[in-house]
Amino acid sequence: MKLCLIGYGNVGYGFVRVLLRHGGWLRERFGFAPRIVAVHDLRRGTALSPEGLEPAILAQAWEGNRDLSELGPGGKREAFAVIEESGADVVLELTPTDLRTGEPAASHIRFSLTHKKHVVTTNKGPVALFGKELLALAQENGVKLRFEGTVMAGTPLFSLIDFGIATPIRRVRGILNGTTNFILTKMEAGKTYAEALAEAQRLGYAEADPTADVEGFDALAKILILANLVLDGDLRPADVLREGITKLDPQEVQNAPKEGCRWKLVAEAAREGREVWAKVGPERLPLSDPLAQVGGVLNAITLELDPLGALTLIGPGAGPEVTGHAVLADLLAIHRGLS
Ligand code: HSE
Repeated sequence: MKLCLIGYGNVGYGFVRVLLRHGGWLRERFGFAPRIVAVHDLRRGTALSPEGLEPAILAQAWEGNRDLSELGPGGKREAFAVIEESGADVVLELTPTDLRTGEPAASHIRFSLTHKKHVVTTNKGPVALFGKELLALAQENGVKLRFEGTVMAGTPLFSLIDFGIATPIRRVRGILNGTTNFILTKMEAGKTYAEALAEAQRLGYAEADPTADVEGFDALAKILILANLVLDGDLRPADVLREGITKLDPQEVQNAPKEGCRWKLVAEAAREGREVWAKVGPERLPLSDPLAQVGGVLNAITLELDPLGALTLIGPGAGPEVTGHAVLADLLAIHRGLS
């Protein structure tokens, strides 16, 4: 399987590092040996290599902040030319998220699918805004579009839904933003909002513009993905009620546990008859609520469906390597489907 990476930031680097550590096991266990034949990044340049770029070399280039063109010819090609010339089977769209337009990722994905290349993306913008259209385009072209890393990062939510569930999900409710959950947990322990946000940024949890996290836009994108692609709704961002954590009183966040409660940023969507609704906002949850027990960068989601009742999944919700794991899991799913 030949891979072309578009975007080589935190997530691309995380993916390369996970591949580096577990490539041997994947080859032995599944006969799966992906080869990175192109990497393109607006800031770091481009490298093309039909015989494959070694993950170790790519990781070193990232760590040394070196220009990728030192690793193989790349020049000033645009992403579209790289996708076409790479000869890749799968395009990994790992550019930063733009929740207003979904670009440039949406164009990269459309271009790749129409050129009959599978796409794996962690980019929430295009999936939240154009998910159904892009899935239909993939199907028309006989290729796959997978996006495990868009919601709950490396925690296998969509694999669970795709392969482990046989009846309709009626409601989803969860903590879907790692940065704000991390900030709220640190604030409870006495850190200031600014200190906690700076730490989340340093650990690679936050979006390029952290306003997306703290004002609830990132959680909105995720609940939109679930509302439209899992509950089969037809919602636009403006249909989702949204509030972030910036108006919460720090003293109130710190005191809530003493009163048997905890503040969490909760995202929820449900189908009621023919209608689907979704919302995001801070809630003061009783400690008896499973979501109140999920701290730090962890995310959690409760799915409601017949006859299981409630099914809760908890796992890491942000971070370069855990999101890289989602990319690798999607590639493995494509490989197993292909072989
Ligand atoms: N900024 C996002 C978060 C990254 O904190 O959840 C994962 O989507």
